[in-house]
Amino acid sequence: MKHISRAALPDGPTVLVVGATGFLGAKVLQGVAEQANVAVRAMSRRAKVEPGWVQADLMDPASLDAALVGVDVVITSANGYMKETLAADFAGNRNLIDAAVRAGVKRFVFLSVVACDQAPDVPHFHAKHVTEDLIRASGIPYVFLRAPAFLDQADDYLAKGLKKGRFYGVGDRDLRWSYVLTDDLAKCLAQAATHRDPEILGKTIDISWSDGPLSQRELAGIVAKATTKAASLWIVPWWILQLAVRPVRLFSDLGYDLLQMFLFFRSGQFVADTTLQSRFFGQPPSARDAVARWATREGLND
Ligand SMILES: NC(=O)c1ccc[n+]([C@@H]2O[C@H](COP(=O)([O-])OP(=O)(O)OC[C@H]3O[C@@H](n4cnc5c(N)ncnc54)[C@H](OP(=O)(O)O)[C@@H]3O)[C@@H](O)[C@H]2O)c1
Repeated sequence: MKHISRAALPDGPTVLVVGATGFLGAKVLQGVAEQANVAVRAMSRRAKVEPGWVQADLMDPASLDAALVGVDVVITSANGYMKETLAADFAGNRNLIDAAVRAGVKRFVFLSVVACDQAPDVPHFHAKHVTEDLIRASGIPYVFLRAPAFLDQADDYLAKGLKKGRFYGVGDRDLRWSYVLTDDLAKCLAQAATHRDPEILGKTIDISWSDGPLSQRELAGIVAKATTKAASLWIVPWWILQLAVRPVRLFSDLGYDLLQMFLFFRSGQFVADTTLQSRFFGQPPSARDAVARWATREGLND
């Protein structure tokens, strides 16, 4: 591993948000844009006419070189595995790191996943682990934020299920893993981009809730208190997930990836340690607080 430089960011740094059109990425962009004395640049493959946007593709190194001119900080939550392929998550991230080295970027903030180094059989977790290793080896000062399961998704199956009186889950009622609300994760990512404490560099920071991991029974209980929706637990059991892995692999890379991820949850290792989160971003929200804000946003307590 190369020595990590603790060089300070310049006054008024330029921050490039990669993945800025995404569900989480758009919130990160907003969080960076709200900061004083920061020039923000947003990246997408799609042409955008608004000022501040740059058109570039993780699979096209020349476009990345152009996007990175004058950039001090790169922050990325871009991914391809959910809607396309894993190419962006492996080769695309490698291209971005190489371009960041060429451009002399001073800080690289990478959104990773809790315990990704423990999950070589989950393709998109493995991509995060490989990318972390590449960033470490590059010598660019970095901050890794590792997210657990999102409470809210772009297509919010939990909110939709609750509106039908169902709390959808996987595995079993009692095994615990960690969660985060994307609004809170995005704020931490934005803060990491310009955090003034040099001690944050080189850190791998799990982001979650103050009261630790939760079982789906516990989460459903907190959700029930925060909403006006009565819901019954609808859990797809482990054995069905296990049985589905081989056939699903034949026709869906994403389906296989997600099944492998759920089966990894069963190991009990998908648990965030929020010690560094508290140190650099303040006290994490409680599950009750995060769920209440999500419920209000989704109109679940109307
Ligand atoms: N869902 C969960 O529970 C969970 C848990 C832990 C971590 N995560 C992580 O959270 C992140 C989710 O982010 P999100 O919600 O913003 O994702 P998203 O809505 O799927 O958006 C994907 C973003 O990646 C960009 N992208 C994809 N391929 C690209 C390429 N070749 N070149 C440039 N940009 C490319 C897209 O930009 P354009 O299409 O505009 O080019 C878009 O902005 C991911 O990193 C995921 O691994 C998710």
